[in-house]
Amino acid sequence: MTQKKVCVRVPASSANLGPGFDTIGIALEMYLWVEMEPAEKTEINFVGDRLQGLPTDKTNLIFQVAQQIFQVAGVEIPELKISVCSEIPLTRGLGSSASAIVAGMVAANALLGEKALPKLEIFRLATALEDHPDNVGPSIFGGIIVAAWDGSEVHHIQLNVPSDLKVLAVVPHFQLATEVARNILPIQYSRKDAVYNISHASLLATALATGDLDKLKYAMRDRLHEPYRERIIPGLYPVKFDATDHGALGVALSGAGPTILAFADRNSGRKQELENYIINTFRNHSIGADAIWMSPDTRGVVFVKALQDHTEVVNDTLR
Ligand code: HSE
Repeated sequence: MTQKKVCVRVPASSANLGPGFDTIGIALEMYLWVEMEPAEKTEINFVGDRLQGLPTDKTNLIFQVAQQIFQVAGVEIPELKISVCSEIPLTRGLGSSASAIVAGMVAANALLGEKALPKLEIFRLATALEDHPDNVGPSIFGGIIVAAWDGSEVHHIQLNVPSDLKVLAVVPHFQLATEVARNILPIQYSRKDAVYNISHASLLATALATGDLDKLKYAMRDRLHEPYRERIIPGLYPVKFDATDHGALGVALSGAGPTILAFADRNSGRKQELENYIINTFRNHSIGADAIWMSPDTRGVVFVKALQDHTEVVNDTLR
């Protein structure tokens, strides 16, 4: 190990942006921090109460992915002292596991110093672990990521975030495991639905790339996952189709849910109306929810001095 101690900050992410199932994701200004250093004996600490209940032994995901990086790099696997602090709610569709994977891999990689793996290899390993790139991609690179994963290679393009884009995440007060939300999806789809999603996802990527935000209303429609997940996320469908009448540019289920993500114009005078509409729709189903307004994160994973710090430190192991 050439580095003694590192600290990384990783953004949350919203995957699937509508029809971009397993393909298009966006990084959000809500963060996870991980500090890591080699130690005599492994010790994992959580700062704050967000991570209560997660393992603090060697079954911890951050510890496990760190070990994977040492193994791939062919170096002796060290005991580690790890401290973690998070703003990202767990199992709500905001990429908390992906952020943990990226943090563990990037921190361990930085400890390797000159033996560090290239950033694109970290992206490939993280994608392989999740089996989809639309959370880990934004968490690594920031911004909006369009990515294709074929089971062994991942290719991506980062889009500039349109400057007027503001994001509202409405996080309902119930948890939904990704595995459960994936298991309710069909194995096969009709050609009609496949074409529907190809056309809408293409329109979405192009609308975001060109800043043609008026197209989001139609471009964010989906037939691969939202119609099936609507059954376990009461309120999703009315919001999906009516939120644009309350000031949204477009709406998507965030990742596998249950959070709903709405895009709005930064200068819109209807942001409160939009927030009230989505919160009240959940309330009509007896579900409480929190509204969080954010800007997209454009940096991705960065090195910082300490937990909860936002001051970026230049570190050339993140090539
Ligand atoms: N693309 C993934 C899914 C995101 O919808 O299942 C959740 O991890």
